[in-house]
Amino acid sequence: MSGLWTNSTLQFWTALTGTLFSLYAVTNTARFAWNFVRPSRLHQYRHADSGSWALVTGASDGIGFGFVQELLAQGFNVLLHGRNRTKLEGLQSDLQKEFSDQKIDIVVADASQYDDSYKAITEKVRTLPGKLTVLVNNVGGIHTTPTYLPHQDVPHDDIDACINVNLRFATHLIKDLIPVLRSKGPALLANIGSVGGIMGVPYITTYCGTKAYMHVLTESLKNETVAEGIDSIDMVAFLVGNVSSHTNTFDMPLTITSRQCAASCLAKAGKNSEALVWGHWKFVIAAYFTMMLPKMTARRLLGSEMRKRVEAEKKSG
Ligand SMILES: *[C@@H]1O[C@H](CO)[C@@H](O)[C@H](O)[C@H]1NC(C)=O
Ligand SMILES: *[C@@H]1O[C@H](CO)[C@@H](O)[C@H](O)[C@H]1NC(C)=O
Ligand SMILES: *[C@@H]1O[C@H](CO)[C@@H](O)[C@H](O)[C@H]1NC(C)=O
Repeated sequence: MSGLWTNSTLQFWTALTGTLFSLYAVTNTARFAWNFVRPSRLHQYRHADSGSWALVTGASDGIGFGFVQELLAQGFNVLLHGRNRTKLEGLQSDLQKEFSDQKIDIVVADASQYDDSYKAITEKVRTLPGKLTVLVNNVGGIHTTPTYLPHQDVPHDDIDACINVNLRFATHLIKDLIPVLRSKGPALLANIGSVGGIMGVPYITTYCGTKAYMHVLTESLKNETVAEGIDSIDMVAFLVGNVSSHTNTFDMPLTITSRQCAASCLAKAGKNSEALVWGHWKFVIAAYFTMMLPKMTARRLLGSEMRKRVEAEKKSG
């Protein structure tokens, strides 16, 4: 027995395991890094006839508005969805001055209701002068005041609104728009996910749950395109973190602007075998730091960080 498990056998297996593990780590890291440096393929969705449209839901502010600006800058016509017509019209006329070569249109629908308001969008898309080749399902939010609450204290209506806006609306809209995107490919279907959907942040529990849903929905849709032999639609969910915008002026070393976030996400579109893609390297650093800690330490840190926000809100409000 002792002869079989000699020093050299042990050395051999240790070396082999070590080598395989290193190779695996190196390959993974390289593939991961490659995603951040490869040239953008966004132009493949802007078809030569230049009638290509992008639809952004929840387009009035935050990351949604960042996507609008970036898509216009990259030569797409853009359809903005929001629930406030006055606000959308204001944005439309401002943007039209800045991007005079592209067409800009708006569509109003309240995503928070348990109804078929998404149909307004499908109908609008049908009347667009040109083809829809990009869909960005961005509409979402936390939908409680105060923002941070223990789950038991969130009003039932707020829970419903959060679920409707963050996942129900997009799920129905995607169903209606897949045939449109499919017939006009190459097309991009992008869902905005969240670091919260993989970290499980306390005091915004429903929000985090809905984001995890969006991640798995995207994975299932992507796998379904393979099952169905659909190669004209690229599906992706971008993992994003907190960004600063005119409605969100949070400042942290790792905080980026909505526009930077959108640009970085779009640069990664259409070249991923993965369904879940990190939107910006800064989010990776913030999240990995937390994920590398022992579980209980991470939970305690996240917990005390979030409790500070609960307290801060109590004081200010
Ligand atoms: C809609 O937007 C306008 C212009 O930004 C604003 O004045 C108004 O309060 C908004 N309405 C609602 C219901 O939020
Ligand atoms: C994001 O930034 C805002 C803006 O100040 C801040 O109030 C909020 O707590 C942040 N949200 C998260 C989930 O970190
Ligand atoms: C579906 O796709 C995801 C990646 O997008 C993958 O992680 C998952 O394993 C796939 N399912 C199967 C059965 O391969």
